[in-house]
Amino acid sequence: MAIRTHNNGQLRLENVGEKVILSGWVAKKRNLGGLIFIDLRDRHGITQVVARPETDGYKVLEDVRNEFVIKVTGTVLQRESINKNIPTGDIEVEAEVVEVLSEAEQPPMIIADETDALEDFRMKYRYLDLRRPVMQKNLILRHRVTQAVRNYFDSLEFVEVETPVFGKSSPEGARDYLVPSRVNPGKFYALPQSPQLYKQLLMVAGMEKYYQIVKCFRDEDLRADRQMEFTQIDVEMSFIDEEDVYELIEGMIKRVMKEAKGIDIETPFKRIPFDESMALYGNDKPDLRFGLELHDVSKYFDGIEFTVTKDCLANGGLVKGLNAKGAASKYSRKEIDRLTESLKKYRAKGLMWLKYENNVFSGSIAKFMNEEIYQNFINEFNVENGDLLFFVADKKDICNASLAFLRNTLGKELGLIDPNRYEYCWITNWPSFEWSEEEQRYIAAHHPFTCPKDEFKDMLLTAPEKCYSKCYDIVLNGYELGSGSIRIHDQKMQSDMFKAIGLSDEDIKAKFGYFVDALKFGTPPHGGIALGLDRLVMLLTGSSSIRDVIAFPKSANAMCPMSGAPTEVTDFQLKELHIEVKK
Ligand code: AMO
Ligand code: AMP
Repeated sequence: MAIRTHNNGQLRLENVGEKVILSGWVAKKRNLGGLIFIDLRDRHGITQVVARPETDGYKVLEDVRNEFVIKVTGTVLQRESINKNIPTGDIEVEAEVVEVLSEAEQPPMIIADETDALEDFRMKYRYLDLRRPVMQKNLILRHRVTQAVRNYFDSLEFVEVETPVFGKSSPEGARDYLVPSRVNPGKFYALPQSPQLYKQLLMVAGMEKYYQIVKCFRDEDLRADRQMEFTQIDVEMSFIDEEDVYELIEGMIKRVMKEAKGIDIETPFKRIPFDESMALYGNDKPDLRFGLELHDVSKYFDGIEFTVTKDCLANGGLVKGLNAKGAASKYSRKEIDRLTESLKKYRAKGLMWLKYENNVFSGSIAKFMNEEIYQNFINEFNVENGDLLFFVADKKDICNASLAFLRNTLGKELGLIDPNRYEYCWITNWPSFEWSEEEQRYIAAHHPFTCPKDEFKDMLLTAPEKCYSKCYDIVLNGYELGSGSIRIHDQKMQSDMFKAIGLSDEDIKAKFGYFVDALKFGTPPHGGIALGLDRLVMLLTGSSSIRDVIAFPKSANAMCPMSGAPTEVTDFQLKELHIEVKK
């Protein structure tokens, strides 16, 4: 005998009269007018089961509680009161025989889309958390996305190649996860932060088109969009330039959006040079679902006798601002104080503001202003009655970081963000290097395998601060979704690049020798990209954290509340690994 003939999302009016067997979890049980009603749940949905007194089924159901796994044999009936909220709402199954397949203790959390359980608790009982339909939908959408990606790359003759998880530690990235070698005392493998060098070596090997849906490991502080182990859609191609990568990835996104979400998306995506993105949005991952662009208004403050702006401009700083359209009446002084406070973590020392109401400006800096500067604001920001202007005066980095945060906050609070819109864009023309205050040296802005734009290729060592590279990010709704570049395929340029970031010949040999060697044997021009699969699925499911689209994620303190990992290990294990732990 079958354990089930149909699943719980399947039966419709046309099945009325059929004899069926359903199995699943008891989601809800009610006794009404002498009848027992059960909501029977499985991955596919919910079917109502009804049992009449005096039947065998009724007797069994009397003792059944939530989350028991049961098997119901019965007949499909048309329902008197239709439930429009579920696809099986026109029918119910009248139970004849009921068998308990597995009993369940009282579950420690509510198993429904809405649950009041805290996240750590949900992770402790993840198998119950994953019974919630919303979580199952997330995992199924994730599957759809990976299927669409695999089919897409396969159709274009890309080959999925697996690369090692035990590799060599290399600096120039986040912190590595290290694994001690038992057979090589005192030596360690590193888990890959990405398959970057392997995929480039596959190009040297002549694979031409590689992709992999691959786990990466980084020891960094965890956040809502960051896990220690996460998954990349990793891609590399030979004989291509930047345009080929844009076209390829736009095609992939188009397909994913269609197959996973049923949405037709417009391509090509908007391209925004890095410097323009910083100027307009204050960051390199703009949310393009709303405006509120930033303006540099430094020039208007020339001659204004206000110590804050005067000192700032005299010290090479900027005054930047934005117009929160129509927001004047929505932000009281107290509310503005809250915004000001929130910018402190971006090191902004204050937030200047002006409201324009009844053709009059008022606000925290009004007493320093004059008619001329007001007129400039009106022209610059297209100010109308009801508008609220905000300004930060500081070093460029601080203006940008704090105003980017303010812009996103206002976008949310003013209801300017349509959650059903997907605004993809490319951020292009990245500087090759960033100056690291901490290390007092240039570090590669993307990674040190990134090719400079042709016009800068001889300047890596002489004027690194002026170099821009063939690097691109793909951004969706304010999140960095992916990053990539055209690579250096010339050995001399690669060694210049390493020198520009302060590596000596010995360092290069010790850390990247095998890779530099490989470039000697005929390397095709190549490039690629990696997209964060978790982030993509997070955005496509409307989740607020990537933990909601990962089956078994780690908590913010890098632990697994369910298994307790990481744990101590036995002295014997440590001894075998030649490791002593300081207590
Ligand atoms: P990058 O380091 O920018 O590039 O990573 C690519 C994408 O991976 C995702 N991502 C993460 N997702 C979740 N948790 C994390 N801790 C995390 N770190 C990164 C992001 C990011 O955009 N090898 C290069 C790619 C290349 O040049 O081809 C690389 O790894 O979505
Ligand atoms: P004060 O003269 O200190 O009352 O400041 C007037 C306004 O300028 C207030 O709205 C402060 O929040 C703001 N302010 C002070 N310092 C800065 C700064 N560096 N950048 C932006 N606004 C500032």
